Amino acid sequence: MPFNTYARALKCRRINMYNDLEKILFTAEDIAEKVKGAADWLDKKYSAAQSMPLAVCVLKGSVFFFCDLVRAMRTPVQLDFMTISSYGNGTVSSGEIKIVTDLAASVDGRDVIIIEDIVDTGRTLAGLKRLLFSRGAKSVACVALADKPSRRETDVNADYRCFTVGDEFIVGYGLDYAQKYRNLPCIGVLKDEIYR
Ligand code: PRP
Repeated sequence: MPFNTYARALKCRRINMYNDLEKILFTAEDIAEKVKGAADWLDKKYSAAQSMPLAVCVLKGSVFFFCDLVRAMRTPVQLDFMTISSYGNGTVSSGEIKIVTDLAASVDGRDVIIIEDIVDTGRTLAGLKRLLFSRGAKSVACVALADKPSRRETDVNADYRCFTVGDEFIVGYGLDYAQKYRNLPCIGVLKDEIYR
C-alpha cells in the first residue's frame, strides 16, 4: 500500500494502541525504576564472579527489558539471544521447549542469567533451566519483568521479579497479544473485548 494511502487509513480508523487498554498498570517511569532495582541486584550478585556471566535474552517479549537491564548494569556481561516457542511437540505437560533460534555461545561452565519478560505457567523457564544445566551451565539465575504466580503450573520461580501481577492480560514493553502492543512503552491491561 502506498505510504499516503496507509497514512490516510490510519487517520480515518484512528489506530491508537492506547485505546485498546483497560488501564495502564505501570508507566515507563515505574518500569525504569524497577529495571534499576534489578540491575543493582545483578551487580551485587555477580560482583565477585570469576568470569563474565552470559545474559540471555528470551525473544521476543524480553527485548526491551533486556536492552534496558543490561545497560543499567555496571558488571560486564556477554549478550546472547534465543527464540523459544513454548511447548514444542505439543506436549503441554512435559515442560519441553522448542528452540527456534539457539544461543551462539556455549554455556558450559558459565554463570547464565535468563532475562524473561514474564513467568506465567513457568513451563518455559523450567524447560530452559533444564536445558542450560544439561549443557553444563555452572549456575542459572532468572530475572523476570513480570510474574503471574496465580497461573503457575510448575514449582519454578524467577530469582528476581520486577512486578507481580494478577491474572490479567497484560501487554506492552515487549509483551504482546497476537504480536501487537509490544512497542507500547508502558505495561497495560488489555480490554476484554480485544481478545475474547
Ligand atoms: C512468553 C514469555 C515467556 C513465556 C512464559 O513467550 O516471553 O517466554 O511465554 O510463559 P510460561 O511461563 O507459561 O511458559 P511467548 O511464547 O509468548 O513468546 P514471545 O516472547 O515471542 O511473546
